[in-house]
Amino acid sequence: MPAHDALQDMIASADQSHLLKLADRLKPERRAALMQDLEEADWDKIPAWIERYVRHKPDLPIPTDVDPAPYYPADCASAVRSYDETRFRAKGEQLIRNGRVAAFIVAGGQGSRLGFEGPKGCFPGGAVTGKPLFQFFADSLLRFRDRLGVSVPLYIMTSPLNHDATVAFFKEHKHFGLDPADVTCFQQGGVPSFEMRTGRMMLTPDGRLASNPDGHGGSLTALAKSGALEDMANRGVEHISYIQVDNPIARVLDPVFLGLHADAADSSAEMSSKMLPKAYPEEKLGMFVASDGRVSVIEYSDLPMERQRETTPDGKLKFLAGNIAMHVLGRAFVERVAQTAEEALPFHRAEKKIPCLDPETLEPVSPSENNGIKLERFVFDALPSAAQSIVYETVRRDEFAPIKNAEGVDSPASSAQIQTERAAAWLERAGVQIPRNDEGKSDCVIELSTRTALWASDLADADLPKKIKPGAKVAI
Ligand code: UD1
Repeated sequence: MPAHDALQDMIASADQSHLLKLADRLKPERRAALMQDLEEADWDKIPAWIERYVRHKPDLPIPTDVDPAPYYPADCASAVRSYDETRFRAKGEQLIRNGRVAAFIVAGGQGSRLGFEGPKGCFPGGAVTGKPLFQFFADSLLRFRDRLGVSVPLYIMTSPLNHDATVAFFKEHKHFGLDPADVTCFQQGGVPSFEMRTGRMMLTPDGRLASNPDGHGGSLTALAKSGALEDMANRGVEHISYIQVDNPIARVLDPVFLGLHADAADSSAEMSSKMLPKAYPEEKLGMFVASDGRVSVIEYSDLPMERQRETTPDGKLKFLAGNIAMHVLGRAFVERVAQTAEEALPFHRAEKKIPCLDPETLEPVSPSENNGIKLERFVFDALPSAAQSIVYETVRRDEFAPIKNAEGVDSPASSAQIQTERAAAWLERAGVQIPRNDEGKSDCVIELSTRTALWASDLADADLPKKIKPGAKVAI
């Protein structure tokens, strides 16, 4: 079956006619699969992408005249900026109770650094029980259901590589107790991979069009395209609470953060962010900055190190606010950004080793050097499009124990340690005796279910042991 004329024309005007020649040399089933990929490719956008990101290295302007972004400190009585935490918590809880909030987890990444086969949300992240990351978030929502009497809808962005496995996992685990009608998985888009030298689109070793998920920024276009935004609108949802799948103790919903987002400025913010104070200047976190009255994130690699080392008179880092990828986004804002994604969410280009099919010999190639270009959108690039945006500080030990690498920093072991120290501190506050070693570290492993507590104060009415024995492994 030859490519129909319109498709041929689009492929030719994108300078990619080699794909049709390659297709003609493939066996019939492989050819049919490739033709299907070609039918579905974004031919109206591809020529512009090649010009802007492949033939040229995109010149993303880095603002030089930047100040640190103002933020609401975790301690509402702080001299940095005080605020009425009770009022904002009440506002956030009211929004949740009235069905104005949806939870959203981006889970399309491949988890290749972790070396885990399968969706990352299925990774056993519990320090004691080994329960999967997805269950942490489901349990948090169950806690809100217990407390506020409302089932908050959960949206999960997957990628073509892990969608079916994610859906099957939820089904197999009976949606972890959530109402299946309130759990929606949808797929993010893909972007073709391009040959670095020639700008030609590549084929995978099995003859499909080589592509990669379009980055977490692709979540904003995928929310629109998949119908998830429309579903939210039908449910009356106005605010979307965004987290990454790799951090088991991320608060899926945070009433104070939601309240600040909705009510701290003259009108509701359009996109807000949680920040973590950077531990040291070289820590690899993007920083929240303000420029021309708009908040944005400047990558750690883009701000000169001497500026990152600047301190305030009280000795704190001036550019303190690190990005940990937790946001609240207005539904209407996402709708607007999705429509203007080509400008609002520029691609970032990464040169990679991409296994492919040799266009001459049709043999699979495993390159030893970078041979291709992958393009990804980043969600924080949407920030400058927001008319209002607030930044809210969180406490590292209480909310950041990511699992990204197999070993060392941000690994299952480091996450288990943070989970334990967080639980130990909260339990001690509630009067439980914790065994500690000479260095003051907990001499036990504790996993505190997110259904039991999301804040230390949640333990006030929990049924707790009096003490934990040295060396014990306890799930509460
Ligand atoms: C990211 C942030 C970094 C932040 C850190 C906090 C970027 C470039 N870096 O780093 O600033 O300090 O998290 O933990 O954003 N994902 C998708 N689809 C994709 C790509 C990613 O859903 O196409 C999801 C992943 O499943 C994961 C999250 O986005 O949940 C983070 O992706 P990853 O690329 O691993 O970013 P990090 O390097 O961890």
